[in-house]
Amino acid sequence: MQTPILRQPKGASLLFGLSAFLSSEINAEPSRATLPDSFDGYEHYTTVRRGESTEHIMTEPNTIEALQQGLEAPDGSRFLLVDYRNEAIYRIFVMEKGPGWGRDYANNEPAGDWHFQWYWPDGSINEERDTSWCRNCHNNREDEQFLFTYDELMSHRQGHLD
Ligand code: HEC
Repeated sequence: MQTPILRQPKGASLLFGLSAFLSSEINAEPSRATLPDSFDGYEHYTTVRRGESTEHIMTEPNTIEALQQGLEAPDGSRFLLVDYRNEAIYRIFVMEKGPGWGRDYANNEPAGDWHFQWYWPDGSINEERDTSWCRNCHNNREDEQFLFTYDELMSHRQGHLD
């Protein structure tokens, strides 16, 4: 079943256009991490509860297989942290890896070849938070492929959410 993420109410585009214009001076750092059209094909391998947030953490099965075989996350890997509050999606954190993407931040501490982005459920970006904030924290996990839920992923059995 398709699980659409982007639910943009009719008539909202003018509003988004305006807010993009108003925030254009903030100059958020560029990132190639994109939101998928749906969660189909993503394996929800662990849940983290943090205050009012319930975070569903997911990635694609081929990424889980590669890591469990002791390989690096392949280029094109994407992880989603879907943050639910009051049973609705509040925000979606994305980290995505591509060939040589770390060079984009060569002067500003790359976290491997991973890019990060903070999306609101309407598909817009939180331009007030520079993604160097994400990188600098995930950088501490270099020995675990820049992931915080590495152990949960490594012990995950596909199709089972324990
Ligand atoms: C201060 C440290 C810190 C910062 C800053 C941070 N994260 Fe994380 N991230 C974590 C932790 C810890 C987890 C594990 C889940 C949890 O404990 O809530 C996590 C989990 C994730 C995951 C799931 C994969 C994994 O690593 O387990 C994604 C995707 C993610 N973060 C993206 C982002 C994005 C995008 C940003 C910036 C908008 C960001 N993070 C900023 C600490 C951080």
